Amino acid sequence: MRFSTSVLLSIFVALTSALPIIEARDETNATLPTVKIYGTGGTIASKGSTAATTAGYQVGLTVDDLIDAVPSLSDVANLEYLQISNIGSNSLNYTHLIPLHHNISQDFENGLIDGAVVTHGTDTLEETAFFLDMTIKSEKPICMVGAMRPSTATSADGPMNLYQAVSIAGSSKSEGRGTMITMNDRIASAMYTTKMNANSVDTFKADEQGYLGHFFNDNIEFYYPPARAYGYQYFDISNVTDASEIPEVIILYSYQGLNPELAVQAVKELGAKGLVLAGSGAGSWTNSGEITNEELIDKYDLPIVYSRRTPDGSVPTDDVPSYGIASGYLNPQKARILLQLCLYSGYSIDQIREVFATSYGG
Ligand SMILES: *[C@@H]1O[C@H](CO)[C@@H](O)[C@H](O)[C@H]1NC(C)=O
Ligand SMILES: *[C@@H]1O[C@H](CO)[C@@H](O)[C@H](O)[C@H]1NC(C)=O
Ligand SMILES: *[C@@H]1O[C@H](CO)[C@@H](O)[C@H](O)[C@H]1NC(C)=O
Ligand SMILES: *[C@@H]1O[C@H](CO)[C@@H](O)[C@H](O)[C@H]1NC(C)=O
Repeated sequence: MRFSTSVLLSIFVALTSALPIIEARDETNATLPTVKIYGTGGTIASKGSTAATTAGYQVGLTVDDLIDAVPSLSDVANLEYLQISNIGSNSLNYTHLIPLHHNISQDFENGLIDGAVVTHGTDTLEETAFFLDMTIKSEKPICMVGAMRPSTATSADGPMNLYQAVSIAGSSKSEGRGTMITMNDRIASAMYTTKMNANSVDTFKADEQGYLGHFFNDNIEFYYPPARAYGYQYFDISNVTDASEIPEVIILYSYQGLNPELAVQAVKELGAKGLVLAGSGAGSWTNSGEITNEELIDKYDLPIVYSRRTPDGSVPTDDVPSYGIASGYLNPQKARILLQLCLYSGYSIDQIREVFATSYGG
């Protein structure tokens, strides 16, 4: 009696069903890469009430629905999927990011997948991208993808973005480039890309550092060989089991007449273990705020990172008081994650200053 491969496979699956089986959609095509899609929610998984609705819509599709909406996906990769959450990215936090990290990390280590795609709301997509970039040690590509228009809108951008992300995550050309943000035909590095427009489809920009490549007519075209940005470094968080193990860091925003007590309250009452300042210009804080900052650092041995409220550019060491830490090119939301990872790793203020300094030229 002869069994076909698929019969043997189902017997194997039945025998091993006590083990966690990765969900796969179709029969495996050995010539194609295997890409796993991790669904977190967001506009890409949303439905509006009419075809013109592009605001005020609800998250409602699962990663399974998304795959069904793009049948050509099965031509570019063997697909697996896992739903991590199904919420807007404004409500994501380490409670979701830690399991997301551990799943991708273990799937890479087990050698079962060639690339990862994370479907995500666009609001905080750059934060998850930066976090995964700094904490997953692998040459395999991770593509973050979202949409600005819900699935029900005319010219919804989600299906094409998802198709491109799966293609890029499955390509050997994408190896060694870390976590990427792949939307709107552009391939960009998690390190510097940021959401620039609250509404427009073309919102992710890396104006100063530039893009890594372009998706054009089903071709993946990179401009440079694989490389990691200055400032990239790996933090091992494989032992983290609970979100509360990641130290609290609070971001304060600069404005005329800033109340310096905000910094005191963040530390004393909210228990911040570090602060990131979205300062004006190249990271300036107010004169009275500086007196408070220096006192806080003296009293609590607290790292304070000076970043900027300006959308682009660098906060250099020269512009920051000697007790502070300059964020370089990192915006406040990315500087916060880097500072949290440094604090989790037990780095001193001087070590943290060195970590940030590598982001402006090694
Ligand atoms: C496997 O994928 C390749 C590349 O897309 C395609 O040419 C081939 O027909 C597929 N094989 C099967 C059995 O579907
Ligand atoms: C993170 O999200 C979870 C689940 O949505 C929520 O219970 C928790 O309070 C949130 N944590 C923080 C720090 O916001
Ligand atoms: C993987 O994700 C699932 C779904 O969120 C979660 O239940 C599981 O604990 C995660 N695995 C790890 C190792 O964190
Ligand atoms: C993780 O925990 C194990 C066991 O306690 C320990 O040997 C290892 O050094 C820890 N790794 C990190 C990066 O903290």
